[in-house]
Amino acid sequence: MIIIPEPANIQRAASLLERGDLVVFPTETVYGLGGDARSDRSVAHIFAVKNRPSFNPLIVHILNLEAAEEFAFFNQTARSLAQYFWPGPLTLVLPRKKEANLSLLAVSGLDTVALRVPSHPIAQALLKAFENPIVAPSANKSGYLSPTEAWHVQDSLGREALFVIDGGRTYKGLESTILQVMDEDVILLRHGALSQEEIEEFLGKRLGSHSSGDINAPGQLTSHYSPRLALRLNVVDPQPGEAFIAFGQTNHQATVNLSVESNLREAAANLFSFLHNLDRPDLYTRIAVAPIPKIGIGAAINDRLERAAAPK
Ligand code: TXA
Ligand code: MG
Repeated sequence: MIIIPEPANIQRAASLLERGDLVVFPTETVYGLGGDARSDRSVAHIFAVKNRPSFNPLIVHILNLEAAEEFAFFNQTARSLAQYFWPGPLTLVLPRKKEANLSLLAVSGLDTVALRVPSHPIAQALLKAFENPIVAPSANKSGYLSPTEAWHVQDSLGREALFVIDGGRTYKGLESTILQVMDEDVILLRHGALSQEEIEEFLGKRLGSHSSGDINAPGQLTSHYSPRLALRLNVVDPQPGEAFIAFGQTNHQATVNLSVESNLREAAANLFSFLHNLDRPDLYTRIAVAPIPKIGIGAAINDRLERAAAPK
């Protein structure tokens, strides 16, 4: 069901969570499939609905930094990042407080936990009403495109069962940026809606990147975020039959344009919606995408496109 976001329905959603049921809600990045972070049963249900490998841990959403400190140890760096960027599209992976009431299934038994304070008013209202942490992966089948509109959720997860709070199109359009803070090191685990440059400017130093091996890095399954149609990237000359996603000025007939003004934020907000709309094997042979500069949030756009284009 698609539900309008009036207060009585937010309250209803909180009661459903309390009962162990799942609720889909908008965040500023993408729609999340939410469940009670304390409940193994709810978390198992999320994994089942998404077809998600259960070794892939979930992000715990909370209302504010104070609530977050119940679940993880914040050093000075982590605290200053949280104070500056929360609420917003930043997820922090931090050492987990073992005594906290969290489902071990949600954190895949790791010693760390991923925490995020979303800024979307509906997400905030739901967290306030529920008064507890909510785990929420993107509300799509594992490996498929992330949802930025309510109908994308139904398209991927089915029409009937789920309670989907409709907040319209999400305004960032790409998942949160994930950082792991380990002592004084800050490591970028996933490019996302908050650009690497903004974070580095705030910290006054470069971010580390995860070297292969021990860190359990997110979204590292190479094929991810995939539409049904094949994708061709960095396309200057689209071929007949292809849907063409342009960026900025183009000499070709664009099917859609991520941003006529070459604005990367606008492009990020449009990306998944356009891919959803053009994912029509009945109309097109393939989706061709123009080159997108890898600066600012362009890094996250390219990351998603490369994963979407990777062979399944
Ligand atoms: O914007 C977002 O972050 C959205 C909205 C709904 O909040 N959520 C989202 O969740 O993208 P999901 O489950 O699709 O991606 C979460 C990523 C996973 O790739 C997972 O591997 C990583 O976070 N993750 C969670 N806990 C982790 C941990 N302890 N260490 C490393 N990575 C972790
Ligand atoms: Mg996802």
